[in-house]
Amino acid sequence: MEHSNTAAPSAHPPLAEHGQTLGVIGAGVMGHTLIRGLIESGAIAREQIWASARTETTCEKAAAALGIPVEVAYQHRVPGAGMILVCVKPGQAAKVLHTLHGASLRPDTLLISIMAGATTAQLESMLGAPNPWVRAMPNTPCIVGEGMSVICAGRYARPEHLARAQRVFEAVGECAAVDETYFNAITALSGSGPAYQYLIMEALADAGVRVGLPRQLALKLVAQTALGAARMVQTSGRHPAALRDDVTTPAGCTIGGLLMLEDGKIRSVLARAVEEATRIAAQLAPAVSQPGGTAAS
Ligand SMILES: NC(=O)c1ccc[n+]([C@@H]2O[C@H](COP(=O)([O-])OP(=O)(O)OC[C@H]3O[C@@H](n4cnc5c(N)ncnc54)[C@H](OP(=O)(O)O)[C@@H]3O)[C@@H](O)[C@H]2O)c1
Repeated sequence: MEHSNTAAPSAHPPLAEHGQTLGVIGAGVMGHTLIRGLIESGAIAREQIWASARTETTCEKAAAALGIPVEVAYQHRVPGAGMILVCVKPGQAAKVLHTLHGASLRPDTLLISIMAGATTAQLESMLGAPNPWVRAMPNTPCIVGEGMSVICAGRYARPEHLARAQRVFEAVGECAAVDETYFNAITALSGSGPAYQYLIMEALADAGVRVGLPRQLALKLVAQTALGAARMVQTSGRHPAALRDDVTTPAGCTIGGLLMLEDGKIRSVLARAVEEATRIAAQLAPAVSQPGGTAAS
């Protein structure tokens, strides 16, 4: 894995205080990725991390791949944790929070949720204890150190909690602090966004094959062009429309291609896709159980 952010860990206070640990509940795609990023960037020592999964199969695979303890029963590790990342599906939230509540969770343990749809107010209410919460929305390119994550603070979280959470996600890409009201839109835009980009790249590669290119070459051309265009937007400080003009010769082939995209209503199709994903993101909230009570999952 490569990381875009390789800031020296010694420049920051430790993510976990001496003698404390960082727990990751849900060692699936995102949990696994965050653990790898944290260890490989040097943000935390391998010996300070533990994780959990629902099945022994996942636990064994994750423990072997990551070199950390991964257990179905993690209650005994909760009291020693200074920070816990909740990386399960939203439907498992109530069960996990009930377990944390009953496992002598320290009142100052920072809890970070990456669960789509679960608001900080819901998480605080479900936990039934005034622990600081930070809500985050990462995306899968975290796997290659090019993630885009956003974070926001809950009612009991202070700026230092947000700063610690930011370091977690900067270990696997970019991270921005935002207002929580943006989360459903962000889930739809950058959380789901990689899937839109893959579909567009697949379609463009097919188009390359249609005009006679070998598939592997077409895919290489498309992927590197997407990467290059993204870097141009990030580094030039210019509007995408101005960058597009640079490619568009009068009466040339690019303006012809752009016209066909506009004929196909590409702008409104993309807008409708994000609108629909935002609507669905708003419905992903976990069922809220009584504080510290059992889950209706
Ligand atoms: N994938 C994305 O693009 C993405 C992006 C942003 C946010 N998210 C959010 O990230 C969360 C995880 O997504 P994911 O794609 O990583 O899902 P995933 O691959 O299915 O991982 C979920 C993990 O949670 C474990 N788990 C389930 N119930 C548990 C419990 N009660 N205690 C401990 N571990 C438990 C599962 O264990 P088993 O494997 O043993 O079942 C699995 O390893 C979701 O809430 C999602 O909204 C995902």
